[in-house]
Amino acid sequence: MNCVAFMVVTTSFLSWTDAVNRYFSKDNDKTLQYLMEPPVYAEIKARRGENATLPCVLRTVPSQYRVKWSKVDPLHTESENIILISNGHEVKHYGIWQSKASLRQMHALDISLCLTKLELQDCGLYQCELINGIDDERVTITLSIEGVVFPYQSSHGRYKFTYFDAKKACAEQDATLATYTQLYREWTDGLEWCNAGWLNDGTVHYPILNPRPACGKDLPPGIRSYGPRHKTKERYDAFCFTSTTEGSVFYVPGPLNFLEAAHACKEKGASLALVGQIYSSWKFLGLERCDGGWLQDGSVRFPIIIPKKRCGGLPQPGVHSFGFPKKSISLYGAYCYR
Ligand SMILES: *[C@@H]1O[C@H](CO)[C@@H](O)[C@H](O)[C@H]1NC(C)=O
Repeated sequence: MNCVAFMVVTTSFLSWTDAVNRYFSKDNDKTLQYLMEPPVYAEIKARRGENATLPCVLRTVPSQYRVKWSKVDPLHTESENIILISNGHEVKHYGIWQSKASLRQMHALDISLCLTKLELQDCGLYQCELINGIDDERVTITLSIEGVVFPYQSSHGRYKFTYFDAKKACAEQDATLATYTQLYREWTDGLEWCNAGWLNDGTVHYPILNPRPACGKDLPPGIRSYGPRHKTKERYDAFCFTSTTEGSVFYVPGPLNFLEAAHACKEKGASLALVGQIYSSWKFLGLERCDGGWLQDGSVRFPIIIPKKRCGGLPQPGVHSFGFPKKSISLYGAYCYR
């Protein structure tokens, strides 16, 4: 969970970690009277496109009360984004949540939140709050989207993204900036990347499995932290997060230059795949191919599940990259998405 994982990271952002811990532990020293306490750091898991229910249950129904559901903004852990407020009879929705969120009200004690058609950015920390005169109570629940984290670098080279550039770059590849929890999970699955990248909370990290001098000296394996960085003045790579897709990625053999590759996909009623889409097909649909192919961002990549000698001799499974070759003269296949 977020909190535990944050505490594993030592270095330079203690004050920020403290803020998060304070946030989580707000009600820990108080027994809740009206709300059922979920198991510590309750977590709901779902995939993109699915519906999810975030459970919240009353112990007793107070005579007068209001229920407020909100989502915690990852950049400002103290600020809340209100989803809906109900007085037990009527529900008022806020902003974008109108079409997406509803109060389940399966029985008299049920104040669970239903979310439909989950999107990547729906993951995060939600708060169920009972407002009852002076005695407000709240419980928090984490919604995780099942997915895959991938590092992303600009076509202009290493460390070119401000925080906002990184956010945009991920969005353009059918992804969002990853959370710390998502990066941590991917690291346990074998992600190693010796370049620092932005996460969605404005911190910068990099995941290392095989410590070596160029990647943080003699520190043990782990997620290395630069802590929170300046969002417009400093530049790094990005860690993007994506999930399952409705369509899938397939390979069209070359030799093709970039324009010919785009055309080859179009002829098949498809388009050149986004980086998020090839990662999704690799992770969830078992896409494996020992041939470099063009993607829509102008990079050339190939997805490997079982590493083989004759396939570059790369030691780890993953979507490997040839970088951004010259579009007019380099010849590869094409990875198309349909
Ligand atoms: C999600 O909820 C909506 C609205 O309640 C429903 O129409 C849809 O079938 C549900 N989808 C899934 C995958 O259960």
